[in-house]
Amino acid sequence: MGFPSLSIRLAFVISFSVAASYTTTSSSFPLKPLSFSTTNPPQPKPKPKPRASASDLLALLGPPQQASTINAKEARQLRSCFKFLVPFSSCPPGPHSETRRALSSRPNCEQDEVDELVWWPPAAVAELARLAVDSGGDPGAIQRALDPTMIIVSSLSCPVFILVTYSVKLCQNVLLVPDIEGSNKSRCELTRIPYGRHFINEELNSYLKLLFEIIAARGPNVGLDVSLSRYDLFHGHIFLATDSGRLGILFHAKEYPAYDKEVFPYNMGYCQRGSNVMYDDSMNLRNILWLAPLPNKSTQAWLAPGVLVVLDARPRGIIYTDLIPDYVDYARTLYEDDFGDVVADVNYLNVGGAKPDFQIFIC
Ligand SMILES: *[C@@H]1O[C@H](CO)[C@@H](O)[C@H](O)[C@H]1NC(C)=O
Ligand SMILES: *[C@@H]1O[C@H](CO)[C@@H](O)[C@H](O)[C@H]1NC(C)=O
Repeated sequence: MGFPSLSIRLAFVISFSVAASYTTTSSSFPLKPLSFSTTNPPQPKPKPKPRASASDLLALLGPPQQASTINAKEARQLRSCFKFLVPFSSCPPGPHSETRRALSSRPNCEQDEVDELVWWPPAAVAELARLAVDSGGDPGAIQRALDPTMIIVSSLSCPVFILVTYSVKLCQNVLLVPDIEGSNKSRCELTRIPYGRHFINEELNSYLKLLFEIIAARGPNVGLDVSLSRYDLFHGHIFLATDSGRLGILFHAKEYPAYDKEVFPYNMGYCQRGSNVMYDDSMNLRNILWLAPLPNKSTQAWLAPGVLVVLDARPRGIIYTDLIPDYVDYARTLYEDDFGDVVADVNYLNVGGAKPDFQIFIC
């Protein structure tokens, strides 16, 4: 199973230009974030040669030695686009083992406690962050922390096995993605594949939930009005940063803005139907970045604490001009594979009915 790559982007650019009437069917992956079609495609406009890169951005969120390698003007411009959900500090108080209590989803707990959980996450997350770096940024190292049952089953064969039932046992740990807020009726497939997994260690799954909840709770503080719904914030992309191997997640909010003749004349297929997400200035804030603490490779020490930040892609800001590809500038989409090697997607989906019930699906 591949991830969006340069070739897919190129393919999209080509299909975009030759087929203005292209419409997506159910799932838009791997073109999901790219899958705009429109009766009035915007003309690609020339932009200045890129200067800043995703790895520059990551360096500024790393230890001071890394940050100091970035040109001062560029650093200033990039920093002006950071809207921190948890205060940024290159040296907050060190990790305290006594604060790493058993974790549950509690975004509304003490302000300081949430900050602390992002700077210095619980042990299981810290271990995964170390594994990411020690493995030299190998996505397989993180994928092996997922429920092992799926590892031996080829990802494509599993649903088939379920259908023919005799191999159900092999697939017992596979979570079929159920109907999400009426998605089935709309023929909308939200996830890349219709089944997902969990991390073996429950603390990791709880931490992922917590990140979604913190973004939803604190987004409004920086102007990001966001809801946990299948039109808005429901997924992120787990990656390992290109140079450092640092573990991170690029979340995408505002995934399916409502079609609007004036402000958003884009048909995004089945999943967009019924959307209550308005296309407005908060689209600028749809890319949200979490970074795990960065470990020192040769010691048990940590070089940088965790980070949770909204990346402001307002037009004329450096993120918009340098990091957002031209063909999705209207959607303000940053791509996870610009940040590093993609491990998997994490989805946080409401599988409940009248009573909300959010669950993690790693696909
Ligand atoms: C979704 O719809 C299909 C038919 O369109 C049906 O077979 C399936 O059981 C439905 N799944 C859920 C979870 O409602
Ligand atoms: C990691 O720790 C060692 C030993 O304290 C230190 O010499 C080294 O500079 C540290 N690495 C980085 C990248 O700071």
